[in-house]
Amino acid sequence: MEMTTLPKPRQPELKTALPGPKTAEIMARDAQHLSTSYMRPYPFVPDHGEGVWLTDVDGNTMLDFFAGIAVSTTGHAHPHVVQAVQEQITKFSHVCLTDYPQEITTSLAERLVKHVERPGEKWRVFLGNSGAEAVEAAVKLARNHTGRTHVISTMGSFHGRTYGAITLTGSKTKYKRGFGPLLPNVSHVPYPNPFRPPLGSTPETCGQAVIDHIESLFVGILPADEVAAIIIEPMQGEGGYIVPPADFLPKLRALCDKYGIMLIFDEVQAGMGRTGKMFSFQQFEQYGDVQPDIITLAKGIASGLPISAMLAKESVMTWPVGSHGSTFGGNPVAAAAAHATLDLLEGEVKHPGCGESLMENAAQVGAYIMAELKKMQAEFPFLGDVRGQGLFIGLEFVKPDGSPDGKLRDRASLAMFGKGLLNLDCGEAVIRISPPLILTREEAETGLKIMRETLASLN
Ligand SMILES: Cc1ncc(COP(=O)(O)O)c(C=O)c1O
Repeated sequence: MEMTTLPKPRQPELKTALPGPKTAEIMARDAQHLSTSYMRPYPFVPDHGEGVWLTDVDGNTMLDFFAGIAVSTTGHAHPHVVQAVQEQITKFSHVCLTDYPQEITTSLAERLVKHVERPGEKWRVFLGNSGAEAVEAAVKLARNHTGRTHVISTMGSFHGRTYGAITLTGSKTKYKRGFGPLLPNVSHVPYPNPFRPPLGSTPETCGQAVIDHIESLFVGILPADEVAAIIIEPMQGEGGYIVPPADFLPKLRALCDKYGIMLIFDEVQAGMGRTGKMFSFQQFEQYGDVQPDIITLAKGIASGLPISAMLAKESVMTWPVGSHGSTFGGNPVAAAAAHATLDLLEGEVKHPGCGESLMENAAQVGAYIMAELKKMQAEFPFLGDVRGQGLFIGLEFVKPDGSPDGKLRDRASLAMFGKGLLNLDCGEAVIRISPPLILTREEAETGLKIMRETLASLN
């Protein structure tokens, strides 16, 4: 791998000479003993992290622009999170929330619902360990509450790897091949992608086209009164970091109201402040009513500790005592990390150089990155689309005829990695930019410089 010299960042010096001997040795052992299903896109074995920087076992320091798939909200080893975890673990690390209440999880639930409750509308929270568990809980609740069985999901979606969740997932066939039979009574409809509008629509009409498509199913194929829920990512993650048109979510809310269908927003990847608001659907509130019935959260909620949440309107969370639970779900140490993460996201605790709150920082630094990438798009014709909101940004690579160029994306991604930028692909030909929300403008500049150099080298 090539070495690059970059201006000295404020934090540890970027240093890449990959793969070093310890990396190679651990990767060889990993290949011997760990699951054959794990992907290993690049030779990287982390040793420790600080802020947005990760240092590997050979002493190479990388700038983290993927945050462990949009998880490390507060960066690595944030002192406020570390302290919260240490304090809780010396008290107790498990009792079982399914059986006994704990103040730390009660107050976490109270804090989470404050971001969604409206006057006269109470919400409740179920806590799990992973995104897939939150999705499973959401679908079980929707079925239990409505007494209906069918669920509609979207093409290109990702909802997790458990049986229910892979059934709902619509992004890659490899997630399903050889695993069937899956959950019955699940249908997929197109996602309104303005860059590649489905159903013969245009960027402006793709939202309405998807709504019309769903209603056409209700005429001849699927009785609407058997549909328990529509589950959708308000901004699609794994499928390519796609932002739907402004009119789509209000229209989807209205459609669900018309037929008594539960609207589930899967905020596992785009939620928790990443787009500049606590939940990504809130970016669309200015265009109409987009309040869902159920929300799923995980990833960024606790800066890397495993906890997830399924939030539902009190009027919807009607499943009976004992009908759902989890041994580890709502673990108090993870809940302490979630509180510390929320302190920083909401601005109760300030992170130096990040303005009033990490949510505000995500909006500002994200807007700066987006503006710089738009300039690159004008310069490099193979950069077909630059899209997103806050620090949820996708770069789509295209061939001269406009079709997705996955091979070029792979070359770009590997070259960026070689220059010290940890990044991750998604969709068919997209690189996602999902750094920790503590990313400063100066650190963003370092990443953008690597991206520009890479794109220029592809020309
Ligand atoms: C939108 C969305 N939902 C659910 C999941 C599943 O989360 P987990 O891997 O924690 O089960 C993911 C993971 O990428 C996701 O992006």
